[in-house]
Amino acid sequence: MTLSGKPTSFWLDSTLETEYPAFTEAINVDVAIVGAGITGLTAAYLLKQAGKTVAVVEAENIASGASGHTTAKVTSLHQLIYKDLIDSIGKEKARLYGESNQAAVEFVAATVKNEQIDCDFSRRSTYSFAESSDNLNKVRSEYEAAVELGLPATFVEETTLPFKIAGAVEFSNQVQFHVRKYLLRLAEIVAGNGSYIFEHTRVKTVEEGEPCQVVTERGNLNATDVLVTTHLPILDLGLFFAKAYPKRSYLIGAAISPEKAPEGMYIGVGQNYHSIRTTPYENGLLLLIGGGGHKVGAKNNTEESYLELETYARSHFGIEPNEIKYRWSSQDYVSFDKLPYIGKLTPANQHIYIATGFSLWGMSKGTLSGMMLADRVLGIDNPWADLYDSLRATPFVTQESIKENLDVGMHWIGDRLKGLQSSSVSEVTPGKAKLLTINGDKVGVYKDTAGSVHAVAATCPHLGCIVNWNSAEKSWDCPCHGARFDYEGKLLHGPAVKDLDKKMVQ
Ligand code: FES
Repeated sequence: MTLSGKPTSFWLDSTLETEYPAFTEAINVDVAIVGAGITGLTAAYLLKQAGKTVAVVEAENIASGASGHTTAKVTSLHQLIYKDLIDSIGKEKARLYGESNQAAVEFVAATVKNEQIDCDFSRRSTYSFAESSDNLNKVRSEYEAAVELGLPATFVEETTLPFKIAGAVEFSNQVQFHVRKYLLRLAEIVAGNGSYIFEHTRVKTVEEGEPCQVVTERGNLNATDVLVTTHLPILDLGLFFAKAYPKRSYLIGAAISPEKAPEGMYIGVGQNYHSIRTTPYENGLLLLIGGGGHKVGAKNNTEESYLELETYARSHFGIEPNEIKYRWSSQDYVSFDKLPYIGKLTPANQHIYIATGFSLWGMSKGTLSGMMLADRVLGIDNPWADLYDSLRATPFVTQESIKENLDVGMHWIGDRLKGLQSSSVSEVTPGKAKLLTINGDKVGVYKDTAGSVHAVAATCPHLGCIVNWNSAEKSWDCPCHGARFDYEGKLLHGPAVKDLDKKMVQ
């Protein structure tokens, strides 16, 4: 099966690889920040501006994880949410949700202006659209809810999309940008004068204390406060892995002439929706189309997800396979009550804070989290702190949380039976992978197209679920909380902090 496009994120491919040093010697700072995505770098930028010394510690390269694989829409229009929020938590809290995400949009715009960041920034409308009349009522309700909350909403029946829609809610004056250009500049501003960016330094754990100890694979650093901004916290104490579920989705980028390209940023509603926007590319534009979301580890044949995007690009935009320049995927954590968790790790922690559960809208909520975590450290009252309190009880009692945690329990028990009948590497054909049971151990075996065998322990080092094969990305993905590993066992994505052990098999 041949897929079109280079298998890498456009945001990463169109920026230079960073070369910040790895952590080498013990230091003391006011604030350590674990994870250099949009949340960590926004907080670091604000804290440094406020006179704090900071150290940002990143396991790989900065802005190369979730923030390097996003669609990079900064908006307070989150597909369909305001009607649901009014119904579930009431009008005042729904209003705060809209207000806080709008504040994040304006923060990005102001920072780009103040710091003169060259990041393909533009103000655009965002749209949640119903392609057919089936979902039109939902879009109308969302529009009415947004107007009720004072958000910049309009109902439209026509857009610049090259196909007919039944209707859309439009938010004006939102933001699109090149996320990595923006974040690389924030990192440049953070580094220096007693503050640091460290790359290729995996943090194993954080110990509360005065000061806190950030334990890395290369030694410890001391900090008065620690922000854990690793998408899903790498620290299990707060049980955030049980308050959100991991979702993967897919993106393609296709060259398109400006005359054929739509204006603005779009997301469909209903089943199998798509995300659409453009960004400057060479002498024209790159059309980004996203979709195909599924729970991590729930789908083996992930090539199908890219092929579905190719089909959609052809049927809706006339894009031919040779015009597709990029394909990549991304991961999100969806919180059970639709609100992110921003605040303390546990009630007992006085100096360790987290942010997670951005539910597919990480540009606005990541920025918002960075703003709010900086306020926590600086002792500034924040008007949205209660709404997003990381210690709120509700996540454990939603229908969604019960269903998802039951699902995790079933994986934990049921997946142990997978591959039970298979114990021979000869059953694996070149280019394929399989779970085998060898001497009672679960082993993940991938045979590359040249016939070389790559075998790893199939038990996730996070909490012991059995990983699943992801064929398009050649990775082992954990269906429980979304940890991912390459075919040689190297950790790609937390909450695990260790690789899968390599296995010798015959
Ligand atoms: S990510 Fe939690 S068990 Fe694998």
